[in-house]
Amino acid sequence: MEMRTGERHGIKIMKKFLDLISEEIMQAFEDAGYDRELGRVTLSNRPDLCEYQCNGAMAGAKKYKKAPIMIAGDVAAKTEDSELLAEVAAVAPGFLNIKVKESAVSDYLKKMAESERFGLEPPAKKEKIVMDYGGPNVAKPLHVGHLRSAVIGESIKRIARYAGHEVISDIHLGDWGLQMGLIITELKERRPELVYFDENYTGEYPEEAPFTISELEEIYPTASGKSKEDPAYKEKAMEATYRLQNGVRGYRALWEHIIKVSVTDLKRNYQNLNVEFDLWKGESDVHTVIPGMVEYMKKEGYAHMSEGALVVDVKEDTDTKEIPPCMILKSDGASLYNTTDLATIMERMEKLHPDEIIYVVDKRQDLYFEQVFRCARKTKLVDKDTKLKFLGFGTMNGKDGKPFKTREGGVMRLETLISEINEEMYRKITDNREVPEAEARETAKVVALSAIKYGDLSNQASKDYIFDIDKFTSFEGDTGPYILYTIVRIKSILNKYKEQGGRLENAVLQEAVSESEKALMLQITRFSAMMENAFEETAPHKVCAYIYELANDFNRFYHETKILSEEDEKKKAGFIALLVLTRDILETCIDVLGFSAPERM
Ligand code: ARG
Repeated sequence: MEMRTGERHGIKIMKKFLDLISEEIMQAFEDAGYDRELGRVTLSNRPDLCEYQCNGAMAGAKKYKKAPIMIAGDVAAKTEDSELLAEVAAVAPGFLNIKVKESAVSDYLKKMAESERFGLEPPAKKEKIVMDYGGPNVAKPLHVGHLRSAVIGESIKRIARYAGHEVISDIHLGDWGLQMGLIITELKERRPELVYFDENYTGEYPEEAPFTISELEEIYPTASGKSKEDPAYKEKAMEATYRLQNGVRGYRALWEHIIKVSVTDLKRNYQNLNVEFDLWKGESDVHTVIPGMVEYMKKEGYAHMSEGALVVDVKEDTDTKEIPPCMILKSDGASLYNTTDLATIMERMEKLHPDEIIYVVDKRQDLYFEQVFRCARKTKLVDKDTKLKFLGFGTMNGKDGKPFKTREGGVMRLETLISEINEEMYRKITDNREVPEAEARETAKVVALSAIKYGDLSNQASKDYIFDIDKFTSFEGDTGPYILYTIVRIKSILNKYKEQGGRLENAVLQEAVSESEKALMLQITRFSAMMENAFEETAPHKVCAYIYELANDFNRFYHETKILSEEDEKKKAGFIALLVLTRDILETCIDVLGFSAPERM
């Protein structure tokens, strides 16, 4: 069968399987004298009856003043010598129930297996996308609140890259605010003798930081607690922040130590999560850009003084809720969170010229980003055709439906959460089995990551979800470990096939011989449409939903089929080729979700 591949930018492209079917049915509508647009086909919502369906005859009844079943009958008659369609049935009151030929499906899969990215078309226009996610604050340990931004952002980055776009990821560290002043203040209280506080000192500062990461992590909450109780302390911290931001040498040197110690620790944490950033920039990186930006906003008349502060009005006539002005400078001249965000937009536009900037941040910041985006547009910091997108995610809750906490009710550190899940996975893997210690630990880590990430990503990002350890670590149901288990099962069959002397590269796909095999094959044909849609809607949960169905289809096929004991060698090799393709698609999908599968588990 002709797969009607085309070319784009010199790369062969493959039409989506569903589009091929639609085209035939549309042609049949036209051949029968009806509007071709009526011929759009969808997946069947009655898989017990058919594989695909078209409801166009129902829609056409009014226009053609004809019973839908007659239209459907006319259309069905025009499909008789199709090479793609095995059955097009007109059924009351006027639906078209469609089945495709086994040969068409296996031919399509063969093409997929040979194509780059399984036939996913390269984008019409390759976009440059800056992704702002992670957003940890220096000197504060990562807690579970930071998990979602990292996990979702990383996946969207990978999906966009897979779809053929250029993506630059930027962690956007919180490294310029009051928390820095708090730490410096607390250090000064404890160790006033440190050379950093000696205003007359003009020499070089020590290379070693005067604290370790654990000290730093203790200092911050202590200081933050004190500042809430003691206004004088808070005053000192604000003063310290101001002095830091205005370049006092000793403070700047201390600040550099804080960043260095903290970033080393953050890198280790993100690495454990399989999350990578191209840029490790922070709020502080734009502090030299801010004065120029402020000048520009004043000069162009965008910003004005209001109660001592410099603001830009961003409300619009069509607003149904109150959108407060965007504050650029506080009355004491200090910059704010949004000042750094605006300056960062300015810098990104100048240095990177992105087509789009995507922010993956807690959805409680949506009003804030609305202000920032409006301000950036109004003041023309951003080009008209550069998109700014806020992807707000919901809260990760505990089983009680309230924000996830430790048993004692405190904020849980991300590291603690991860090691608890690692332990749980280790326990499951070694339960009733002899597995070498090192291997069990390594496997537990890989599977635990799938549990955490899949548990998060399988929910629509904007929704709150319940972090349920028991459910997420289960090997059954809609979970990461179930997906990995399925991949490992396939790998193990393929290994046995090789041990029996079989060669994977010689295995050729055959036409499906059972209903479950055909269902698995049809699921595979949907890969490119799914991936394209996951990118367009920035929706990793669509990848999860797809692999869950694919894994289910595979497992049904597996339980109903004798694969390795099949006597007909050609048939057996056909099964093996299907397994290889299923494994490759599953592994591609988990890779864009940001985790991987072990060899055994
Ligand atoms: N550090 C911020 C916080 O903890 C998140 C940063 C989000 N990104 C941004 N460009 N504002 O809330």
